[in-house]
Amino acid sequence: MSSDVMKDIRDALSSRTQHFVLPKQWASMRKAEALEKETGQRILHFEKGDFQGDEFYPAPHIYEAAAKAVHDGHVRYVPGPGLPELRDAIAEEMTSRGRPTKREEVLVTMGAKHALTQSLLTIVDQGDEVIFPNPGYPPDEFWITYAGGKVVYAPLVEPDFAFDLDSLRSLITPKTKMLIINTPQRPNGMIVRQLDEIAEICKEHGIIVLTDEIFSHMVYEPQVHESISYVKDFKDQSIVVDTFSKTYIMTGFRIGWCVANAELITAMDIFQQNSVTNVPAFVQLAGLAAMTGPQEHVLQQTARLKAKRDFVVEAFNKIDGIECLTPDGSFYVFPDIRGTGMTAQQFADYLVEEHGVGVVAGNAFGDRGEGHIRFTYAAPDEILEEGMDRIAKAVEAL
Ligand SMILES: Cc1ncc(COP(=O)(O)O)c(C=O)c1O
Repeated sequence: MSSDVMKDIRDALSSRTQHFVLPKQWASMRKAEALEKETGQRILHFEKGDFQGDEFYPAPHIYEAAAKAVHDGHVRYVPGPGLPELRDAIAEEMTSRGRPTKREEVLVTMGAKHALTQSLLTIVDQGDEVIFPNPGYPPDEFWITYAGGKVVYAPLVEPDFAFDLDSLRSLITPKTKMLIINTPQRPNGMIVRQLDEIAEICKEHGIIVLTDEIFSHMVYEPQVHESISYVKDFKDQSIVVDTFSKTYIMTGFRIGWCVANAELITAMDIFQQNSVTNVPAFVQLAGLAAMTGPQEHVLQQTARLKAKRDFVVEAFNKIDGIECLTPDGSFYVFPDIRGTGMTAQQFADYLVEEHGVGVVAGNAFGDRGEGHIRFTYAAPDEILEEGMDRIAKAVEAL
């Protein structure tokens, strides 16, 4: 294609796409992959937000349900908001967790990401302000900007990345429409402990809370998962987003859900039907089998991840110049690397280029992530051991 044609295509892009840039987090992934290809060097990958290795696969009954559903002919369009039996199962689960839920309040979506996208595009108007945690989950910012809204950053404060409630109050203006929280938080894995106080503030100002709870089953005892939607009289003011990706290791199935006030769900359903139409029926039937079938697999996975978390936290804390908080949940740690004297990006580049270890620089999630790296530990033990060994040697060599 000639460069003139390319220029014309660029000119044709809408003004709404002007903020489209490749996410910083992908830069780490691309760099690790490119180095592997160019040099043949074996890179250990801790930069992706996915599971790796044979111990992390969906339980056999989930595969069987997916295969049977295809075989039985569940390959046509189905109702947009989701199969009634799956919406009921999700409603039952949310009710048992603490948010009484009816079928009409559930939308089955193409993963949590699409639930977040639809929530933001359905609610955020030109000029609306959305308070967003810093560090946070960049795709949320992307859609707020696309909708013409303004991202207002709420700093999460170390050591445990809690909201500063006074600072949160000070960010509220008459234009504030929504607050986004994720608990356990990405990228640091800490749960949000101030749910009652945050609900109180949002009630006072009529602010909707979009609560991303994709790691709801990956919270390690003695901590427990709590949702702002359980707070008395707050369920209609919250939109809960969750997924099958993490709980059931179904990242590639692309299925999640959203629970909110029934009218809002109807609006989001119209959005969904005019975009992806519906989540494939055979994928929904796999989700139904996951949610209503045996849950031992989930418990085993959580126990396995907790042991891996403990191993990496201890290993990071043994390295001079690195301090690692013990996250309450998720499959990430977010160690503080400031003692190495490097910035997050310098350290991430150094690790991948010179020691073959892929991680993400913490500032990919906002400037409050500077001085940290995000490391995904949902990997085989021997890879984690080798990775931690390489990182220790890398810091020693500085
Ligand atoms: C905070 C957060 N929300 C949403 C998602 C997307 O999840 P899903 O695979 O269900 O789309 C991710 C993916 O890692 C995430 O980290």
